[in-house]
Amino acid sequence: MKTILTGIRVNEEPTIGNFIGAYKTMINLANEHAADAHINMFIPDLHSFTTPIDHSKLYAQVIKGVKYYIAAGLDVNNPNVHIYRQSHVPAHSELAIILNCFTYYGEAKRMTQFKDKSEENPEAITVGLFDYPILMAADILLYDAEIIPLGEDQFQHLELTRDIAIRMNNKFERELFTVPASEKEQVAFMNLEKGLRIRSLTDPSKKMSKSSKDEKSKISLSDDPAAAAKKIMSATTDSLGKINFDMINQPGISNLMTIEAMLSGRDIHDVIQQYAGLERYGDLKQEVARTVSTFLEEFQQRVAQISDEDVERVLEQGEAYANKVANAKLAEVQRAVGLIR
Ligand code: TYM
Repeated sequence: MKTILTGIRVNEEPTIGNFIGAYKTMINLANEHAADAHINMFIPDLHSFTTPIDHSKLYAQVIKGVKYYIAAGLDVNNPNVHIYRQSHVPAHSELAIILNCFTYYGEAKRMTQFKDKSEENPEAITVGLFDYPILMAADILLYDAEIIPLGEDQFQHLELTRDIAIRMNNKFERELFTVPASEKEQVAFMNLEKGLRIRSLTDPSKKMSKSSKDEKSKISLSDDPAAAAKKIMSATTDSLGKINFDMINQPGISNLMTIEAMLSGRDIHDVIQQYAGLERYGDLKQEVARTVSTFLEEFQQRVAQISDEDVERVLEQGEAYANKVANAKLAEVQRAVGLIR
């Protein structure tokens, strides 16, 4: 059986960008393939403090992260759906240490996320931040996962994961790891034309980022729905005066059309057709603002209905499964590298 796997960090409140790029694509695939694939949706909690955080809030954030997976529509009663915390499956860290020695410094240094995050926080560039994509490779390779729903910004890390898997399979002359599908295959599997990248509402040349200090640039999943609607109404667009779906010349307005399509469940081509050539940006903004606030209201209601006991039960089952699969793979790797017989 194929494994479809993804993780979403909760060191900061996830945004509608995360929701569209990862939650929604993952859950669409989960619902489509729950009978014929393992669906692993985990919380990468060890990845939470690659940049500084308030540690007193982390545990509660992780529990909330699990509630978000369930509220987003993951069917936890399906036995093929597994939710777990990375830190509760120690094989992730152990494999990461081994993979470190099969990853070149030069290739890790090329990761653009490392460069961007180092620039954001020059006083706190840790080895953990540098090593983050290799832990991510361990998260994927331990489960022989083939399909990894991700936003566009994470595809470089997927490519690194593929390179490490291919390198180790060649070195040890066996199929130690399943090589995850390429970016092109992933995007086709998700029924998309390309990877998704929701833009900042104040500077549409950049992605919407949960770590941005500019509150107006992002909509978090816990934002007050009315306040979120206001952020959409004041989103930066352009002065061309005519609506066109054109990510290069009109990224702000095109971003709003993408948000509308993804959160309402409409085909993007319908949204484009509805607004193409029109001059009143305000009409589009109003519709998007309504869609976003309704989405947040309903999502937050679902989150509130999930109890901590529900989360504990789901994690207990998910972590038992994950430890079994991950430990078996770790033992195979330990045997290949000569640590055990
Ligand atoms: P993270 O937590 O930064 O982001 C979670 C997911 O959201 C996507 N995303 C976006 N998609 C569209 N538009 C945006 N503006 C946007 N911003 C973020 C990301 O691409 C990602 O899919 N390293 C990962 C977490 C991780 C992981 C893994 C994922 C750790 N191990 C193994 C998959 C498999 C991360 O930091 O994502």
